[in-house]
Amino acid sequence: MLKSDFNAVLLQHQIAIESFLEDYTSNYTETSGSSAAIASRYSLLGGGKRIRPILLIEVAKLYGVKESDYHPFAAAIEMIHTYSLIHDDLPAMDDDDLRRGQPSCHKKYGEATAILAGDLLLTAAFEIMLRDISHSSALIEEKIQAALLIAEAAGGQGMIAGQCLDLQLEQVKATEIILTDLQHKKTGALLVASLLAGAVLGKATEFEIGLWKQLGLTWGLIFQMVDDVLDFTSDASVLGKSTGKDERDQKSTFVTVYGLDMTKELIRKEQGKASKLLEILSEGQDIGFFMALNDYLPERAK
Ligand code: IPE
Ligand code: IPE
Ligand code: MG
Ligand code: MG
Ligand code: MG
Repeated sequence: MLKSDFNAVLLQHQIAIESFLEDYTSNYTETSGSSAAIASRYSLLGGGKRIRPILLIEVAKLYGVKESDYHPFAAAIEMIHTYSLIHDDLPAMDDDDLRRGQPSCHKKYGEATAILAGDLLLTAAFEIMLRDISHSSALIEEKIQAALLIAEAAGGQGMIAGQCLDLQLEQVKATEIILTDLQHKKTGALLVASLLAGAVLGKATEFEIGLWKQLGLTWGLIFQMVDDVLDFTSDASVLGKSTGKDERDQKSTFVTVYGLDMTKELIRKEQGKASKLLEILSEGQDIGFFMALNDYLPERAK
């Protein structure tokens, strides 16, 4: 897939995702919603690359899943991701004032409301998936499996465990093994769940699911390493979030532990691994989008 076509597909996805997130939260208004509902909508809409729902949707489409069957899961994963960002920015965590190009949720609405907005998005994600399951007459087992995968990835063995490690390792130099474990949990888990939810909804084989999982973990590492590089090299006006904060907080990241050059080398190495996995997945399937994504992820500028 050409780079220009890939960028057009990303944009199309982003517009469509914005639109269904808007629909799912249309009752979060000043007249019918709580302050937390309004704050959660502020953080959810109008920004973000939407990588996780895009992964879910592209895998689901690859296996011929209908739009109405994957929408709730794509919305849920983006809501959980957004909640993780709201809480990640809180003063007790990374203490960040800027997110997705605007004041972070607690800067705009205060800490208490931001905590509740995060709680609301996490809860709403499960509400949306369960409501869909309760109204479904087909794919019920697959949908339960997809929701379970998402729950596990977001929870105490997944993203939350990664966030705990991230905080514990401030001012401590982590080894490569610990750092890899941290990134797998903090960032890899939700990326894996996005791919696997799509694959499970599409009744992929166990063998394919194993490949998607490996791919998700590899992309998780790349994604977080690039995030760490950009924190060091980029600018808030481009990223839409503040920079230089990993050094400020003495975080254990690939960049703070290994330096910029070595991290870029590791990114290339992981990209090579992803290429090999994609080669196997390409048998009998058109995975042009994912090939292009493997070129985009190491190079993204925001
Ligand atoms: C930022 O995620 C947090 C990480 C896990 C690195 P994204 O880079 O996907 O943030 P948005 O959704 O585009 O704002
Ligand atoms: C956050 O990682 C990962 C999450 C699970 C939210 P970072 O703390 O590096 O993300 P940014 O840089 O604030 O987006
Ligand atoms: Mg953080
Ligand atoms: Mg942060
Ligand atoms: Mg970061």
